[in-house]
Amino acid sequence: MKSFKITTLPGDGIGPEVMDAALAVLDLVGNEYGLNFEIKTELAGGASLDQFNEPITDSVLQSCLESDAVLLGAVGGSKWDNLPQEKKPEKGLLKLREVLGLFSNLRPAKIYGPLADASSLKKDVIVGSDVMVVRELTGGIYFGNPRGHNEQEGFNTLRYKKYEVERIAKVAFELARKRNGHVTSVDKANVLDSSQFWRNVVHEVHQDYQDVPLSNMYVDNAAMQLVRDPKQFNVIVTQNMFGDILSDITAMITGSMGMLPSASLGENHAMYEPVHGTAPEIAGQNKANPIAMIGSVAMMLEITLNQTEAAHRLNNAIESVLDNGIRTIDIASSDSIIVTTEEMKDEIIKAFKQTDQSISNSRELVKEKNE
Ligand code: IPM
Ligand code: MN
Repeated sequence: MKSFKITTLPGDGIGPEVMDAALAVLDLVGNEYGLNFEIKTELAGGASLDQFNEPITDSVLQSCLESDAVLLGAVGGSKWDNLPQEKKPEKGLLKLREVLGLFSNLRPAKIYGPLADASSLKKDVIVGSDVMVVRELTGGIYFGNPRGHNEQEGFNTLRYKKYEVERIAKVAFELARKRNGHVTSVDKANVLDSSQFWRNVVHEVHQDYQDVPLSNMYVDNAAMQLVRDPKQFNVIVTQNMFGDILSDITAMITGSMGMLPSASLGENHAMYEPVHGTAPEIAGQNKANPIAMIGSVAMMLEITLNQTEAAHRLNNAIESVLDNGIRTIDIASSDSIIVTTEEMKDEIIKAFKQTDQSISNSRELVKEKNE
């Protein structure tokens, strides 16, 4: 039996509830595909601060380093807002990215057909758009030194090394090639030296990917173009902070942050998490949308665990539940069937089992035909 070590970090707010849903799904996938998931659940973010006075402990980092993949719920909350930078829950997440070397962050913004009305943009603007943001995740202004603030000034450093730009550019070109798509490299080369450098390096790497069309766009224009006509984009590659901002915009194109999964990948490690935050206002009420978390499990199955069929079945299950008008409150419209977090999870599990049925039925048909 194949065995995988997974560390789960439910975190804060709705994190634990959506993680419970993810674990139930993982359990099902394990049973159906004969996989053994060795799961360790650990504290991160505010939950870790409350217990250990640190947003993530060395022993948790160690557990993550020893795992095939990490699943993260969400971290943060106003309770910890006034702590110094080093003690904020978010620091736990940044530490994880750094220690695991997760330099590439994939944030797909796929429109689910039945949800096209949930976007604040017009349906005909968004339908058919499928943007993948490839965000550099362990460099740039998030990590640059020196940094600091006092009564008189505050400062951060934006610096990129050549190898950092090269490796993220490769990820983007490879992905675009697989998607038969094209790459837009987003920067601010008209103002920032680091961006001019970024642009130069991306073009150098492009020499090895002549079959993949490449264009450049300034970040302010990209923000505008994303809401004007998202269909013009395919893969966007950009530095850490621009990626943070643009991926929130692409998330909103789809109508709900509650829907979007993400993967953070390095040479040897991988972490999967929903793009949404901790949503403290609905935490503990069984109202959170678990789809982004379950979608993150699907990404993990596909990218790290090589369980492509299970991943596709899971994504199909999510779509079919949405097709049936079943919604958590964040994506509900007047004719929806509104369900809780747990009910949504149960529906997805039910749909997953049914797709198996239809897959094996169609296999039977094919067999009969061939006989
Ligand atoms: C994200 C979040 C994080 C980031 C925060 C919580 C540190 O906004 O994953 O997009 O800025 O990277
Ligand atoms: Mn963000």
